[in-house]
Amino acid sequence: MLIVSKNFCNFASLKVMIMRIILVLLSTIVLLASCSNSDKEYKIGVAQCSKGPWREKVNQEMLAAQHLYERDVQVSIANSVDDPELQARQIDSLAKTGIDLMVVAPYEDIQIIKDAISRVLESGIPVVSFDRKTSADYTAFIGGNNVEAGFIVGRYIASIVKDEEKEGRPLVMEITGLLSSTPALERHRGFEKAMKAQPGLEYICKKSDWSSDSSCYYATQLIDSLRRCDAKRLDRTFVFCHNDGMATGVYKAVVEQGVEGRIKILGIDGMPYEGLDYVKLGHQIGTYYYPTHGEKIIRLALDILTGKPYERENPLLGFVVTPDNVDLVTTEATELMRQNDHMVTIHDKLEAYFGLYNTQHKVLIGSFITIVLLLVAFIMMWRAYVQTRKAIRQRQTLNEEETLFYTNADSRKIRQIFEPTKEEKPAPRSQDTIFAETLNEAIRKNMGNPNLKMDELGEEIGLSRVQLYRKVKAITGLSPVELLRQMRLQRGYALLQGTNKTVNEIAYEVGFGTPGYFSSCFKKQFGKYPMDVRAEQ
Ligand code: FRU
Repeated sequence: MLIVSKNFCNFASLKVMIMRIILVLLSTIVLLASCSNSDKEYKIGVAQCSKGPWREKVNQEMLAAQHLYERDVQVSIANSVDDPELQARQIDSLAKTGIDLMVVAPYEDIQIIKDAISRVLESGIPVVSFDRKTSADYTAFIGGNNVEAGFIVGRYIASIVKDEEKEGRPLVMEITGLLSSTPALERHRGFEKAMKAQPGLEYICKKSDWSSDSSCYYATQLIDSLRRCDAKRLDRTFVFCHNDGMATGVYKAVVEQGVEGRIKILGIDGMPYEGLDYVKLGHQIGTYYYPTHGEKIIRLALDILTGKPYERENPLLGFVVTPDNVDLVTTEATELMRQNDHMVTIHDKLEAYFGLYNTQHKVLIGSFITIVLLLVAFIMMWRAYVQTRKAIRQRQTLNEEETLFYTNADSRKIRQIFEPTKEEKPAPRSQDTIFAETLNEAIRKNMGNPNLKMDELGEEIGLSRVQLYRKVKAITGLSPVELLRQMRLQRGYALLQGTNKTVNEIAYEVGFGTPGYFSSCFKKQFGKYPMDVRAEQ
């Protein structure tokens, strides 16, 4: 229907090209971005209840396991340092940070912490309870078997006591951790069971709170009372504390009271640089290696998150450390800790590399986008330059054609007759002039009529079709039809330059039946399309 101008074609293809570039650009960015994000990193929040070597070790192991398995995890640890209210708040805020799973070592089995854990579960986040439990629900539990720990330590004491019994009735004092925390309660149960199986010894229990100060206090009291009634019994006395930190309190009392080496001290945890060293140094006669296994906690968390089968209860194995095996255990444990430190170092380096990689990745994308944008800008500028040059050339050609047209003898007549300029002296109103003016008027009046017939035009100025033909031909050298078309095209040219009307509107206004025909006649007449004239504006 419409003849699409060459310029329009060029403009459209430029647009298509820009669209293509943008598409390629977008898909490249999506591709690059998706490369770095193919596997989601799970976020694990850890609500740790206390500090100390045992907690530090398990924390380090969890951090080292972040890149250990088939899926990366990001571990964030909050520590409430023996403050249950703070822990409840930390559980709530960790849950709000968008974690996928929570690992919690609840300080004690009290309502405020149970409620916080229940809220996390209700919000759809799985909860792995480790080391300690509450009576609130949980997705899975992982930790040492504390009943067994207490029982094994009790049996170990019993095995030593056998020899001491000959001298008189041995005394065993248990100083518990905080009994509202499950490990203390369970250790107590196990130990009590072992003690009850030994009627030959006297067993007393002091309920305490994990602190070394309290155990120092109870030990001092004990030494005092033994000194008063049966000082020799000090050599047949055992003190079992629920952890090695508490055992240091007893050792302090023993040293202060000058009975070092007489009272035998035992603890739980068996950490390098803590309980293991105390056994090596002879401060303690034993400890229980209470397993940490942060890497197993992360494994369990990943199994839950990836929908793999997992056990709800995951007990970890421990064992008694005595002066006989302490060297071996220390070597093994220290080596394990060293390897774990290496993993943490590797992990830190990996993080640094990832950081660098991400920055480079972004710089690469940024440079790519800049290059493409510069390219697009260059292409657009080049096109603009080419079009301007073309327009200038066309303008020149047109000027030449116009000169040719108007310098043509017959056409000059047209100009003189139909378009007299102000400067030109009005020609004497000859017969021809009068005719031309009348015809001009008639043509202008009827120009918009695409069906205008020469009969009608002639009739309008009182001439037959033949008379009109002869007269017009004689004056202009053109047939009336040609004259009419030229005037239509001239008017069209003027409207293109002087108005904002569309090419279509102008085509109809100057009497062309279709805009396409207007465009092709226009091209023949002026050597360019109406759109080009419009573009030059
Ligand atoms: C550390 C600790 C350990 C103990 C464990 C029991 O906070 O007291 O010494 O074995 O907790 O939960």
